[in-house]
Amino acid sequence: MRILVIGSGGREHALAWRLAKSPSVEAIYAVPGNPGIARLATCIPGNALDPAELLRLAESAGADLTVVGPEAPLVAGVVDAFRAAGRAIVGPVAAAAQLEGSKIFAKQFMVRAGIPTADFAIVETEADALEALDRFGIPVVLKADGLAAGKGVIVAASRAEADAAVHGLMSGEVVGKAGSRLVIEECLIGEEVSFIVLSDGSNVLALEPTQDHKAVFDGDAGPNTGGMGAYCDARILDAAQRRFVMERVIEPSIGQMRAEGCPFTGFLYAGLMMTQAGPKVLEFNVRLGDPETQALLHSLDCDFAEALLAAAHGDLGGVKLAWRSDPSVCVVLAAAGYPGTPRKGDRIEGIEPAEAAGAAVFHAGTRARQQGLETAGGRVLGVTASGSDLAGAIERTYQAVSKVHFDGMHYRTDIGRKGLKRWAASEG
Ligand code: AMP
Ligand code: GLY
Repeated sequence: MRILVIGSGGREHALAWRLAKSPSVEAIYAVPGNPGIARLATCIPGNALDPAELLRLAESAGADLTVVGPEAPLVAGVVDAFRAAGRAIVGPVAAAAQLEGSKIFAKQFMVRAGIPTADFAIVETEADALEALDRFGIPVVLKADGLAAGKGVIVAASRAEADAAVHGLMSGEVVGKAGSRLVIEECLIGEEVSFIVLSDGSNVLALEPTQDHKAVFDGDAGPNTGGMGAYCDARILDAAQRRFVMERVIEPSIGQMRAEGCPFTGFLYAGLMMTQAGPKVLEFNVRLGDPETQALLHSLDCDFAEALLAAAHGDLGGVKLAWRSDPSVCVVLAAAGYPGTPRKGDRIEGIEPAEAAGAAVFHAGTRARQQGLETAGGRVLGVTASGSDLAGAIERTYQAVSKVHFDGMHYRTDIGRKGLKRWAASEG
């Protein structure tokens, strides 16, 4: 089968890397791809936000199946366009992608479906927002309604910060029109877990649980990023927790979407907070996570393309995913300035030695220049490896990280450490 991957980040490189190992895949294409993906696939320049253009490119590549990485093409309606043309694609239609595209839609949906989530208010004016802040107390969380590339959520630790966030978001200064309406919500305490499933609209296939590390510095300090690293370990959720999440979050979501006439197809990502009162949903994404996917697909042990094709054809019943028992760890190497405006053009060295040390090095913000590979974005590379236990996976990953260098490179040195602490006894 010929597969087209839409996107240009580390998640899409990991997808191409995993699909390249599938016996059923004969060729991979990517729009627009990146220099890492170009080693495995034919990269085709194109506007990933234009459904008609993507359909044209898929047709000319003869793609039997298309997989969408990021949310923006989904919200723009790429799946609707492919479906209308009878072309197989994995992802939700635009109406279902509102689960990520609008925080207000997601919260109201969770109320309709009875899904546990933080208490919230929806506000449309600064005056209403300030009144809501009086009710919620501090800390409090403010969320721009629309897509905001990771900049739309502020966890305010003081009233002054919350007031400033209201103005920053609603005036359009921080995230433009995405902030004209806000969700203001209760701040939940606990550890975050990413739980992702693949659905064909009725059947659901759960992926292994993962844990992302959103804050830029060790110990979860500093501002939030798109994700500085993740690990995949089956123990992140025990059997009872998995059952709870499936029965109280995933099945009601899939069922409610179907009942509302808009079956959810593709990857549904529940961002969970494991509170003392049980898991609660922080957010839905309508795609795979980045960098969760890099760790997940490193631990996957089956023909992923077959599962994706079955999902696209509404035929997931009976499909199973197989996982290696080895945990995997992905450490993101970020550019100078990230999560603010990243510096570009720093020469990247050491990828081959890192691969020789047993890691997969997934490209995200890189560009190929005559003189070699350079930084071209905030999250530059995702160094990913597995080990027979979590400690071993962490050690192998950081060994590989130590081979890579670019000026201004920074990364967290504690990816996976929460897991080590949690399982200190069994890890010895
Ligand atoms: P979201 O895009 O809604 O997941 O928010 C991004 C990040 O903000 C989450 O991964 C959490 O770290 C944090 N966050 C969001 N909502 C809450 C909440 N209600 N309580 C505490 N932290 C939150
Ligand atoms: N790693 C978080 C996300 O993909 O949204």
